[in-house]
Amino acid sequence: MRQGLICAAGHDSGSRTFLPFVKEQIVADVETLQQDYLAQIANADLAALEEIRIAALGKQGAITGLLKTLGSMSPEERQEQGPRINGAREAVTSAIAARKDALESAALNERLAAEAIDLTLPVAPSPQGSVHPVAQVMDELAEIFADLGFAVATGPEIESGWYNFTALNMPETHPARAMHDTFYFPDRNADGEEMLLRTHTSPVQIRTMMGQKPPIRIIAPGRTYRSDSDATHTPMFHQVEGLVIDRGITMAHLKWTLETFVRAFFERDDIVLRLRPSYFPFTEPSAEVDVGFTVEKGKRVVGGDPTGPNGGWMEILGSGMVNPKVIEHCGLDPDEWQGFAFGCGIDRLAMLKYGMDDLRAFFDGDLRWLKHYGFSSLDVPTLSGGVGA
Ligand code: PHE
Repeated sequence: MRQGLICAAGHDSGSRTFLPFVKEQIVADVETLQQDYLAQIANADLAALEEIRIAALGKQGAITGLLKTLGSMSPEERQEQGPRINGAREAVTSAIAARKDALESAALNERLAAEAIDLTLPVAPSPQGSVHPVAQVMDELAEIFADLGFAVATGPEIESGWYNFTALNMPETHPARAMHDTFYFPDRNADGEEMLLRTHTSPVQIRTMMGQKPPIRIIAPGRTYRSDSDATHTPMFHQVEGLVIDRGITMAHLKWTLETFVRAFFERDDIVLRLRPSYFPFTEPSAEVDVGFTVEKGKRVVGGDPTGPNGGWMEILGSGMVNPKVIEHCGLDPDEWQGFAFGCGIDRLAMLKYGMDDLRAFFDGDLRWLKHYGFSSLDVPTLSGGVGA
């Protein structure tokens, strides 16, 4: 039908003789055409709308065809027909635009309604990792000592013999050097020094004393290495070392600090310590520290009366007053600065606190073990969860 209209409008329109007739035709046609299009537009979907646009307003479109006839009209006719045909073009153009707009916003609303999130739905469970007990205990240590004013210090795991031994008052010929089953590298470093995997975190105390001015209060947690392997020893293990350097530091400060730490860490107030004289080249005097334990439900737990029928002592760390020679090696005057140091195995602390009895399982990477003994990443350690809780 549209095609028919175009023919009627365009038929012989080049000849002026037919103009009166053509003119009437056009008038009638434009109105019908416009109404016809508007009716179609009102019900069209987006695809149909595009077809209508091409049929009406495209290069070969019906209304475009009518517009072309304006050129062959007399000025009077053009004055009359121009507004009608242009009016039809505008009406159809804006009807298409309005319909398109309406369709698009309806589609958007529909999509938004369909995509609405139901916040009451339970969350789909996703696989969760867990924090390794060693990492958890390191966090707990950092937290407890932070509350006591200690910063965390770190250092390299590949050390020179000087930092790991010599500076700590263990010269090359010292027998204590042989007590650490050290992993040595085959080659020396550029300065001709022997290189090794650190056997303790004590070299961090040397690096800290050399790099920082006292007063110093640090803990140095980290990986350490010794050629050793059984149920309670692995070639790689973890230590935390503590160091305080200040004026007027005594064994009393050491004992109070260790007591406060141990009670906060094991979350019991009734833990007693025993300091036994010992020997470390880097501390003088030195003491090995035992904690009192009791057997509860067949298991050793830290705390309670060690002198009672179910009680006893168990060694947990080494400590002492920093040897003046070590202080001197770090460029400080031992007459002005004193301090204490202690070192202990993190893995052993974790085993004692969380009841794990084979150290090797710590580093096997068995997911079942990790799931069982691991911690939630949101389990933030705090001192308030410790002492007296
Ligand atoms: N570094 C010692 C060790 O690994 C532990 C220790 C540290 C002892 C500090 C006393 C003082 O055996």
